Amino acid sequence: MNIIILSKGPGNYSTKRLKEVALARGHNVRVINYNKCYMTIEKDNPVVYYKGEPLTDVDAIIPRIAQSFTKYGSSVVRQFEMQGVFTTSSSIAINRSRDKLRSYQLLAKYGVGVPKTVFARETSEFDEVIELAGGTPLIIKVARGTHGNGVVLAETKKAAQAVMQAFYVEGVNFLVQEFVKESAGMDIRALVVGGKVVASVKRQSLDDDFRSNTHQGGEGVPVKITDEERKTAQKAAKAMGLPICGVDMMRSDRGPLVLEVNSSASLKTPETITGRDVAGKIIDYVEQNARGKRRRDRVGA
Ligand SMILES: Nc1ncnc2c1ncn2[C@@H]1O[C@H](COP(=O)(O)OP(=O)(O)O)[C@@H](O)[C@H]1O
Ligand SMILES: [Mg+2]
Repeated sequence: MNIIILSKGPGNYSTKRLKEVALARGHNVRVINYNKCYMTIEKDNPVVYYKGEPLTDVDAIIPRIAQSFTKYGSSVVRQFEMQGVFTTSSSIAINRSRDKLRSYQLLAKYGVGVPKTVFARETSEFDEVIELAGGTPLIIKVARGTHGNGVVLAETKKAAQAVMQAFYVEGVNFLVQEFVKESAGMDIRALVVGGKVVASVKRQSLDDDFRSNTHQGGEGVPVKITDEERKTAQKAAKAMGLPICGVDMMRSDRGPLVLEVNSSASLKTPETITGRDVAGKIIDYVEQNARGKRRRDRVGA
């Protein structure tokens, strides 16, 4: 098969692993920087170009779109979709997963546990927003993923108000969320491939930070997840229309609560820590599905 990995980091662990596995299986694989792709749009002729060459005869793409290039990257994915090329994540699902509010709305509707979340714009209703989120301490987070940088724990009402005010003034969309204190500093990342969990790691912050992101110094360790956690991760993947994704969950007193679903989850920690061949599972998925009928997105939001 002719497979393109859309990635701007050829030296990135996940990109390298996917390429290595696909090559070993006898596929033609290219790593292409989606930021350097360009496209022509005209009647019945969708083309993607790269360095002067039209990318034709592509059987499958594996998008690894960075958060900061979501718009351009997902447009390139969409252009391949217009040609009928199989993709491991649809452009719609990538965009959906990059919007935390949209994700929480969908997850909640599908019956997936999420931390209670409030979204509001009215500057005058701070008190009510705080009350609806269960009072302080509470979490205020930017509506897009930030590797933990845009997530604030406000201990007091005054602090919560000040943070909200600052975000409003700057025109930043944010969500206010109950602070799940029993899970502070710890979360679980379950890697889903083909709708099934194939590896899970627990991420624990090394200092007293409430954020467990590895970008914030969190450390990953293997974890055996419960049946309920496995079902939750799989349900979240389905709700988001992402057969391949990383589902982040917190362990709360009322069961697993999903924090986010990542459409380009890193394979590094899950593979190196659990020893599982996640890249192999992804290539299996491509081999089993790329030739079949294109599945339409049926999520509806
Ligand atoms: N409601 C919450 N209660 C407790 N901890 C939280 C909550 N929301 C986020 N966290 C912590 O902060 C980290 C980052 O939050 P997340 O929503 O995943 O943002 P990002 O997209 O920036 O990673 C999480 O991994 C978790 O450890
Ligand atoms: Mg996160």
